[in-house]
Amino acid sequence: MRSLRDRVRKARSGAKVDEQGSRLGQLRQKVGKAGQGGAAGATAQKAIYKGQRAKVSLGREQYQALKRKVHRELLDALDLSILSEMAEDEVKAQIRQVSGKLLEQTGVSFNLRERDQFIQDIIDEVVGFGPLEPLLKDSTISDILVNGAKQVYVEQYGKLVLTDTEFKDDAHLRHVLDRIVSTVGRHIDESSPMCDARLPDGSRVNAIIPPLAVDYPVVSIRKFRREAISMEQLCQYGTISEAIAEVCEACVEARLNILISGGTGSGKTTTLNIMSGYISGDHRIVTIEDSAELQLQQPHVVRLETRPPNIEGEGAVTQYELLINCLRMRPDRIILGEVRGREALDMLQAMNTGHDGSMSTVHANSPRDALTRLETMIAMGGYNLPQKAVRQQIASALDVVIQMQRLPDGSRKLVCLTEVTGMEGEIITMQDVFRFKRTGIAADGTCLGEHIATGVQPRFLERLRAGGITLSPDLFVPS
Ligand SMILES: Nc1ncnc2c1ncn2[C@@H]1O[C@H](COP(=O)(O)OP(=O)(O)OP(=O)(O)O)[C@@H](O)[C@H]1O
Ligand SMILES: [Mg+2]
Repeated sequence: MRSLRDRVRKARSGAKVDEQGSRLGQLRQKVGKAGQGGAAGATAQKAIYKGQRAKVSLGREQYQALKRKVHRELLDALDLSILSEMAEDEVKAQIRQVSGKLLEQTGVSFNLRERDQFIQDIIDEVVGFGPLEPLLKDSTISDILVNGAKQVYVEQYGKLVLTDTEFKDDAHLRHVLDRIVSTVGRHIDESSPMCDARLPDGSRVNAIIPPLAVDYPVVSIRKFRREAISMEQLCQYGTISEAIAEVCEACVEARLNILISGGTGSGKTTTLNIMSGYISGDHRIVTIEDSAELQLQQPHVVRLETRPPNIEGEGAVTQYELLINCLRMRPDRIILGEVRGREALDMLQAMNTGHDGSMSTVHANSPRDALTRLETMIAMGGYNLPQKAVRQQIASALDVVIQMQRLPDGSRKLVCLTEVTGMEGEIITMQDVFRFKRTGIAADGTCLGEHIATGVQPRFLERLRAGGITLSPDLFVPS
């Protein structure tokens, strides 16, 4: 019998420990999580995502060697000091021309498509982010997760899939990583082995290298989506029903205070962006974010962004400080990208005192959990307030909590729209107005279900009416 340690080691190396065809094994495959255990898992799995790359007749090793050779010779042939003064398009044209000649000299015969692919790879290596560049350009990919040189996962259409992208070795990966973090004036090395950065296109990058990352450098890129998702698309994707969309729009117009709750990548920011779109163009909107992701179209928007500490650990500007500053800027509506810390109390106070119609998101698994999180943030913020007073503050500030969830099939759903109704004794009272009712899983792994009205006529209807908005009572009748 194999020892426990052997089995654990084997599991870590990505080898199959589940008996073939076991339920757990099948389930993992369905949700695209199989083989997350380690770099060796990459070889045990079939690459699924291959992007738009031309099929090259050379073997992988030979192709990499050829690329290194031409890249080296190209750097010798080009005058880098002149290149740095040229426009990017000219630089690319120059690299294209020289590397084309160098390729011819190697005697390797490529067809036209292979040649283009090869030269593009060289350009990406010299002026881009190397092997990551095609993944960055592919708009169907939302996240890129690099686990060392030989294992790159992407999230595409909501699913995590392994790619055939690889770096020559960890040193090559570190080189690309250095280029990424240096674009924002930061650096990463053994003495500061963790770093957050943003790519020129707005994508967020987190990198962590050994010794903190035990096995290899790990890079996680959350890509910035240029074309914002619209409410119509949310309805088409089944994230939200048309009835809920109508209610959401009315809530924003009538200046209700809304908190969007959800786990990582569940679509909180996307939903916040769409909801903010319903704010009237007459209002002065101030947004506060860690990295400016919201894309508001109104004419009067002021965007504020926090600043991380510099290398010496100084100069950080937090959301709390920005919120305090924002209150002196005469905002009509405040949009806080994600409430995380002591700014929670000030945000609630602002919602209660003239900045109604403000919105934020919070990392939580249910509306109740979202409120508990706010409470914890306020308690941790060092305010010496009795629990009941904090709860009263929360209950009177917030009107609606929207819960987002990423389902196992990768789809994002609004799983409930909940009204905060007040307090009963020490407890904040809430009622679900809409819910997503899951009914099962289809053969292809798709989660089945539908949005339903719970039958509750929300109390906020009165506020809507006062704001001149009348919704059809049919919206709230259970189907
Ligand atoms: N309803 C949706 N349908 C499909 N894709 C979506 C949907 N909502 C968001 N996405 C995609 O999911 C990814 C994560 O979305 P988003 O950034 O809004 O999530 P988040 O909850 O704010 O994440 P984080 O926890 O990182 O702040 C993005 O690539 C986004 O384009
Ligand atoms: Mg977000």
